[in-house]
Amino acid sequence: MNIIYMSKSVSGFSKMSKSNKIDWIVATYFNHNEDAKHIIKQYWNTNIKLQQLHDEFIENTITNYYLPFGVAPNFLINDKMYAIPMAIEESSVVAAASKAAKFWLDRGGFKAEVLSTTKIGQVHFMFHGNFKTLYAFFKTVKPKLFEATQPITKNMEKRGGGIIDIELRDKSESMDGYFQLHATFETLDAMGANFINSCLEQFAKTFREEALNYDDFSEKEKNIEIIMSILSNYVPDCLVRAEVSCPVNDLTENPDINPEEFAKKFIQAVKIAEVEPFRAVTHNKGIMNGIDAVVLATGNDFRAVEAGVHAYASRNGRYSSLTHAKIENDIFYFWIEIPLALGTVGGLTSLHPLVKLALELLHNPSAKELMQVVAVAGLAQNFAALRSLTTTGIQEGHMKMHLMNILNQFEATNEEKKTLIDYFKTHTATHSAVVEAIHNLRSKK
Ligand code: MEV
Repeated sequence: MNIIYMSKSVSGFSKMSKSNKIDWIVATYFNHNEDAKHIIKQYWNTNIKLQQLHDEFIENTITNYYLPFGVAPNFLINDKMYAIPMAIEESSVVAAASKAAKFWLDRGGFKAEVLSTTKIGQVHFMFHGNFKTLYAFFKTVKPKLFEATQPITKNMEKRGGGIIDIELRDKSESMDGYFQLHATFETLDAMGANFINSCLEQFAKTFREEALNYDDFSEKEKNIEIIMSILSNYVPDCLVRAEVSCPVNDLTENPDINPEEFAKKFIQAVKIAEVEPFRAVTHNKGIMNGIDAVVLATGNDFRAVEAGVHAYASRNGRYSSLTHAKIENDIFYFWIEIPLALGTVGGLTSLHPLVKLALELLHNPSAKELMQVVAVAGLAQNFAALRSLTTTGIQEGHMKMHLMNILNQFEATNEEKKTLIDYFKTHTATHSAVVEAIHNLRSKK
């Protein structure tokens, strides 16, 4: 066991050439199988410069990992038309977004508004001594924290952003000796992670150095121990709201569905997600289908967004729905409120050609505009999911889209695809029904 484990270890991997890395992987984990090498290499881009750009985004790159990049057109947001770029592998997400966009296009479109844009970072430190003395020290050192970060903040300040405030927070009730510098930032069109982290590391350095020379501290108190300095991905004050509304009577396109009944059922479905965490997680997952796809297509950090959004969904002590719905004076309202820390400058935005293209498609938005578009994509996705779930059920639409995946698994020809897609327009598509239909079709030949 130990020998196998050792034989699969390697040192100096990061320094090997790409080709040697692949040789090592294929020899060690694929028993020298050339097919593995072929799969890895077939995803290389033929444009050497473009491939090198991707190679250098991360370490130890051996190939590229494709995701489909789709577009959901017909989004009317604050009276402006958008075709929204979406990078996602899940069948039916882009189709659902497009359907919801078209539906609301005829009903006034989406309204979106950024409620706040503040981001947060913290220096976590240990201090053992008198809190009053620590607080007095903090007050004297606070202007120095701003001063010391001037070289980092001056450009951001010129554009209207920067450090908003720094607070000292006593966390010693949760953990003995634990305190924080809790800072708030405005980073404008940048997601701001590097800016915030650089400021925080400077705060920590200045704070510790100044403490060593603070006469009112005892020798023990002088020795502030910095644990870490890092931004928080929980951004409850970087909030965006998106909404749709229309008279209840305009809610259904299908004459067989009573609009009032539909609205009531829809609102109950949302309420269930508000009160029941098991449902809320799936409900919000559907919202994130739309959100992550746009976040990814525009080169933003979807892990940061995911972490922050789910923390926000639990802010009242129980995981709950991110969307809400009501009827007021015969008008149906459906809305979302979510925290989104996004950037349209910095990071991948000017580096990755497809990200640049996605941003151009969105009229080169500011971070605030992008927050609105992303929130709308989440709301649209949730509308589409709830509409299917409360009427036909989700599988009808899902399986229609998944049909192509099954046909591809069976290497169906274009002619077979056409016949079977036509067939499943009037038949229920389940995995076994599709497999059976393929066999039947082929046995007739
Ligand atoms: C599937 O990816 C997403 C849904 O499950 C969302 C939902 O249930 O609301 C359809």
